[in-house]
Amino acid sequence: MRILPLLAGAAVLALAACSPKAEKTQYDTSSVDMAELMAHVVDPGAFMVWRGAGTEVTEAGERDLSPTTEEGWKVVEDGAVIVAEAGNLLMLPDRAREPVADWNRHAKLMTVRALEAKKAAEAKDKKGVFDTGGRLYEVCVACHQQFIIAPQEAAEKK
Ligand code: HEC
Repeated sequence: MRILPLLAGAAVLALAACSPKAEKTQYDTSSVDMAELMAHVVDPGAFMVWRGAGTEVTEAGERDLSPTTEEGWKVVEDGAVIVAEAGNLLMLPDRAREPVADWNRHAKLMTVRALEAKKAAEAKDKKGVFDTGGRLYEVCVACHQQFIIAPQEAAEKK
C-alpha cells in the first residue's frame, strides 16, 4: 500500500507546477494538440464512414461505394466508433475551448451522429450510412464555423 502516498505526492507536485488557469487533470497525458487530434483521429475516422457510402461518378460510369464484404462494413463501423469516442476526447478538460457549453454541445452531437452511422453500418444500411454520414459532416462544419472561422473573421475586422 505504499504506492498511494507516492501517487498523492506526485499529484501535489503536478498541481504546484501549473498556473491556476490551466489546472491539470488526470487526463494530462492527452498529448497531441487539437490540430493533430483532428488530423490523426477525427478526420481519418470520419473518412472511413464517408468512403463507405454514396456513388462515385467517373467517365466509366457510376460506382456504388458501399462495402461489399464483411471487412468493408467493419471499416465503416470502426470509423464511426473512432469518431464517436473522439467526441469524448474533445471534451477533456485540457481540450475543451471557451465557450465550453457550446464546444461540448458540438462534441456530443458528433458522438451521437457517429453512433447513428455505426448503427446503420451494423445493419448494412447503405442509405442509412449515407444519410448519417451527411449529418455527421454538418457537425464538423458547425463547430469549425464557430471555433475557427468566426474567430478568424472577428480578428480580421479588428
Ligand atoms: C468541437 C469542435 C469540433 C468538431 C465537432 C470538429 N472539429 Fe475539426 N477542428 C476543430 C478545431 C478547433 C480545429 C482547429 C485546430 C487548431 O487549433 O489548429 C479543427 C481542425 C480540423 C482539421 C484541420 C487539422 C489540421 O491539420 O490543421 C480537420 C481536418 C478537421 N478539423 C476535421 C474534422 C472533421 C472531419 C470533423 C467531423 C467529423 C471535425 N473536424 C469536427 C474543432 C472541431
